[in-house]
Amino acid sequence: MAGFPFTIAATDGEARTGVLSTSRGDIRTPAFMPVGTAATVKALTVDQVAQSGADIILGNTYHLMLRPTAERVARLGGLHRFMRWEKPILTDSGGFQVMSLSKISKVKEDAVTFQSHLDGSRHVLSPERSIEIQADLLGSDIVMQLDECVAWPAEEARAAEAMRLSARWAQRCKNAFGERDTQALFGIQQGSTFEALRRESADRLIEIGFDGYAIGGLAVGEGHEGMVEVLEYAPAMLPADRPRYLMGVGKPIDLVEAVARGVDMFDCVLPTRSGRHGQAWTWEGSVNLKNARFADDDEPLDPTSDVPASRDYSKAYLHHLVKSEEILGQVLLSWHNIGFFQTLMVQLRAAIAEGRLDAFRREFKARQRIG
Ligand code: GUN
Repeated sequence: MAGFPFTIAATDGEARTGVLSTSRGDIRTPAFMPVGTAATVKALTVDQVAQSGADIILGNTYHLMLRPTAERVARLGGLHRFMRWEKPILTDSGGFQVMSLSKISKVKEDAVTFQSHLDGSRHVLSPERSIEIQADLLGSDIVMQLDECVAWPAEEARAAEAMRLSARWAQRCKNAFGERDTQALFGIQQGSTFEALRRESADRLIEIGFDGYAIGGLAVGEGHEGMVEVLEYAPAMLPADRPRYLMGVGKPIDLVEAVARGVDMFDCVLPTRSGRHGQAWTWEGSVNLKNARFADDDEPLDPTSDVPASRDYSKAYLHHLVKSEEILGQVLLSWHNIGFFQTLMVQLRAAIAEGRLDAFRREFKARQRIG
């Protein structure tokens, strides 16, 4: 099969570290993809994002098809040129965002119909249209199949119905995508928290054949323990020689536990969203800079970091910015958090390469105190 070479350099238990080589550059795995929903990683310039160590970012079909429209992005030279990000971009297919954001949505065999959360306008998103938007108009490097994700908890029959629809849409996405040398198509495993459904989903996707495989339908309310339970079996159902991507996850502790169970790629709004709300992620857990205990704290968040936001600004200053609702506070904390998530990936990759992931995990968990 065509698709990007994925080289696994080392394994440690179920965990792997390696490189996914795309035509726009290498993605070191395990990888964390900052979310750039509306052609921007919120509050950050692409230079800040790149400097933090990100090899790839995520964009969203749902948002971009509504505004500025996929056709306009195409006319302006594609998503990379439009937003000035030259490295790889993975785009999500739209189905998940339709379900979570649009005012009204209706899922049918042929397509999902929905009303825009922006102006109530009516839109249709089929598997074929999602591929056209992602691959041809936006020019994404890694294209996701259109899928249906159910909320949690779900009845088994309902989870089965959505998983089987997703499998049929997977085939239609594959047909529409065809074989391409410079773009990859990933399938998405569904099945909620039901092992047999996850198995059927994986088998059907493997039968179709994808360049990579995502685990969807998690981080939808099942909690850390519920997610880890699914990760005990779900990644192992997916081909070992292709990248595995856990969608929409997560907190640093979720990333560490998922990497230990064989996941290679992640995306989450958490570092940027929590940064805009005054929260900083650190090796000691998360802290809210609004807290009065930082008012006179002259130390930076992380003096050892290469990221200016983490190294060069005192917590007292960040506290002042957050308290005063200054835009710079949102910028610096988003930048710090993206940098922290990338540093965590650097450390996970090193721990796997050196065969000490278990020790890293234990120490990481002992230090993380959520507050
Ligand atoms: N983002 C987080 N979870 C999902 C999912 O299940 N499907 C898609 N397409 N995107 C997601």
